[in-house]
Amino acid sequence: MTRHLLADLDLSPEELDRVLTLAAAMKAAPYAVRPLAGPQTAAVFFDKTSTRTRVSFAAGISALGGAPLIVNPGESQLGHKESIADTANVLDRMVSLIVWRTYAQSGLEEMAEHSRVPVINALSDDYHPCQLLADLLTVREHLGELTGRSLAYLGDAANNMANSYLLAGVNAGMDVRIAGPQDHLPEERIVAAAQERAGLTGGSVTITTEAALALEGADVVATDTWVSMGQEDEKEQRMRLFGDYRVDAAAMARAAEGAIVLHCLPAYRGVEIGAEVIDGPQSVVWDEAENRLHAQKALMAWLLVESGLADDATVA
Ligand code: CP
Ligand code: NVA
Repeated sequence: MTRHLLADLDLSPEELDRVLTLAAAMKAAPYAVRPLAGPQTAAVFFDKTSTRTRVSFAAGISALGGAPLIVNPGESQLGHKESIADTANVLDRMVSLIVWRTYAQSGLEEMAEHSRVPVINALSDDYHPCQLLADLLTVREHLGELTGRSLAYLGDAANNMANSYLLAGVNAGMDVRIAGPQDHLPEERIVAAAQERAGLTGGSVTITTEAALALEGADVVATDTWVSMGQEDEKEQRMRLFGDYRVDAAAMARAAEGAIVLHCLPAYRGVEIGAEVIDGPQSVVWDEAENRLHAQKALMAWLLVESGLADDATVA
């Protein structure tokens, strides 16, 4: 059966742990695992702009022995002249992996339904699961075991990063607290899925409008832009909405001593995060960005093996 990563809970808790452990091993030996040797081609499609995702997938695919094919917004027939299903039927005869950054989650689901090779969500309006693999790897490096650690996310709590922090966090057994204004909290279906998974892992879920409640003694503090890609028209109103949820020095004073700070980047200093925080000693954002590369390499190798498209020995 072909395996995909479309959303954070597509990995079981055990699988998440295995991918993170593989990522740490591959970080230590960057060119030891070559499931794409040949080179086989991996296609990376973008409907939205990107720096980290684009570069980390290109570099990661090369390091796995493969050849990256980057398709920028507007460069293919996908989504306007040709259906997603027809595109999948063509692509899976030519490439070994399909990575796609797009808007609707339903598009990724349709691509996966018609693809015989793994499909990876490189960010959708709903989730950013590759970013969370990198974030959890970073937390493991800095704080050790994830189970029982608390993570507070502040800001736009209805966006892709909030959803992914909630789902991936509980999948790792963490105590996840999400804080944002009343009309910008995670949808009920996301909260319900997170609560169900937390029941399996021992994690916990808090959804609140009170930033202070989320921050209280948190081991990890995370935030994201207040204006996600596709929301540019709402910029002015969004700047007013999230003011009480800024991650600044005052917010960090409520977190645990030695707490670390995550931001997926790009960041807007003085908006969702204070310069004193992102450029300060608690920030681990550059490790987090680097870990996109290591986490995604492990994910690609693992998906290929699980899908029967690479030999386990290439990942041993
Ligand atoms: N964090 C992240 O996905 O960055 P890019 O938008 O630059 O890919
Ligand atoms: N929430 C942001 C994340 C960027 C990596 C966006 O979707 O634009």
